[in-house]
Amino acid sequence: MDQMLSNESARTVADMEHQLAVLQQQLVQAQRMTALGELVSTTTHEFNNVLMTILNYAKLGLRHKDEASRDKALTKILAAAERAAQITNGVLGMARNRSQHPEPTDLSGLIREALVLLERDLQKYRIQCRVQLEPIPPVMAIGNQIQQVLMNLIINARQAMKSGGELTISLTHDVATCMAHLTVRDTGSGIPEETLPRIFDPFFSTKSGPDASGQGGTGLGLAACHNIIQAHHGRIRVESTVGRGTAFTIKLPLAPPLQQRQSIPA
Ligand SMILES: Nc1ncnc2c1ncn2[C@@H]1O[C@H](COP(=O)(O)OP(=O)(O)OP(=O)(O)O)[C@@H](O)[C@H]1O
Ligand SMILES: [Mg+2]
Repeated sequence: MDQMLSNESARTVADMEHQLAVLQQQLVQAQRMTALGELVSTTTHEFNNVLMTILNYAKLGLRHKDEASRDKALTKILAAAERAAQITNGVLGMARNRSQHPEPTDLSGLIREALVLLERDLQKYRIQCRVQLEPIPPVMAIGNQIQQVLMNLIINARQAMKSGGELTISLTHDVATCMAHLTVRDTGSGIPEETLPRIFDPFFSTKSGPDASGQGGTGLGLAACHNIIQAHHGRIRVESTVGRGTAFTIKLPLAPPLQQRQSIPA
């Protein structure tokens, strides 16, 4: 009888664990769709600005026939078109399912891609961005999920610095633990001690709804970050001081060296 009961309860626990894992995956998926929707609205605006630049310089080039003016117009058009291509690449990178499985991934590439997409927004809110990327080996990761984490952290940082500030993104690695360390630091409002334990809870938000850029307020961002980093066997940690700022640090396992990877059976 006892044995039956304990088999039964072991099954119930296993069922619940399975349901929890499914719900956690759904939360990540739902937050991804929200983030993509927000991104489409931000980048469409920006795309429009780039198109305006191209149109205006094309007209200028047609009006002024001298070589210097035409060269200037064409240089501006080229730079704007290159920026447009970067934006579409970034959005496509996030939209397409690069891979559903962890694979050796270049974190600095993901950081640069996220910044291309959010650069204009950061400028608009007078936020200086400092990027300190040490060359590190690839991490074992699902690229678009880590991009989702980065975008969430950068948008949160931006929203915490209402009247400007400094965003610092740094990347290092620890040879002893074979982990990459990625920090997103802001000089914003900080998080009061009493709210700190709740920030990773689903639907916890102190924002009253989407801001002027159409971002934020569902309270799923950090919950999704937490689930993603946990599924990657990584860690996410926060340090914050009210009035001074906040730093989120993510640790992710490095991909095993090539020789070891080749000897792992498929
Ligand atoms: N860098 C930060 N500085 C200050 N507070 C922060 C920061 N990051 C998160 N928070 C706090 O944690 C809460 C939860 O963040 P989370 O990203 O999960 O949700 P959100 O930003 O409110 O909404 P969304 O799901 O749309 O991102 C925020 O509402 C905010 O109070
Ligand atoms: Mg958020």
